[in-house]
Amino acid sequence: MHGSGKNAPFITLEGGEGSGKSTQIKLLSKWLSTEGVDHVCTREPGGAPGAEEIRELVLTGDVDRWTPMTEVLLYTAARSDHVERVILPAVRSGQWVLCDRFFDSSIAYQGAGRGVGVDKVKDLQTLVLGDLKPDLTLILDLPIDVGLSRAVSRETDREKKEDRFERMDKSLHEQSRAVFLQIAKNEPDRCVVIDAAQSIEALQQTLRTVISDRYGALLK
Ligand code: TYD
Repeated sequence: MHGSGKNAPFITLEGGEGSGKSTQIKLLSKWLSTEGVDHVCTREPGGAPGAEEIRELVLTGDVDRWTPMTEVLLYTAARSDHVERVILPAVRSGQWVLCDRFFDSSIAYQGAGRGVGVDKVKDLQTLVLGDLKPDLTLILDLPIDVGLSRAVSRETDREKKEDRFERMDKSLHEQSRAVFLQIAKNEPDRCVVIDAAQSIEALQQTLRTVISDRYGALLK
């Protein structure tokens, strides 16, 4: 985390629909436990009780339920709550944080996909979060068609209901993907792009290697 050398690592996973982030986080969590690493897994939108209520608001209902600006404010409001109540207390107490999506999703989806403007959304993040940034961002990259068809075949009813974004135009997803790749280019020290078209096992191995290369000294 920027400017806070003694905190535990704050790692985010980003990527399009169906890129497999949540499965990969579960497997990373198992691995970190066997490595003796105290950690928490969390997600956005959500990750804290109030933020989970906002999640319900932004992910369900009609595609045009919210204006793009309202949407980015809701995501960012939820993020502020999540950061203050969950992420910062954890990393300050020495627990690693693995987070499924963070502010790069707002920059990609609301900034580009929904047309608010990439710079405006970045400025909003700085206004709300100051210089807080993930230490490492793993971007799981996948062709849009592959990701969307994986997302549609999801199992649980709750996940099926949270499909407001999946129902949006394909171009939103194309634009978001392009922004994730651009962010990675601009911030090569923080971001690593990983091909998510690999098998679950191969992808997991790649993620573990990236994390071990960077934080091997903190593992058992
Ligand atoms: P998520 O639960 O990670 O779903 P998925 O498994 O489909 O990736 O995220 C839900 C949706 O929320 C996803 O379509 C991306 C969107 N989103 C934004 O548009 N802005 C944000 O800031 C965040 C965190 C998510």
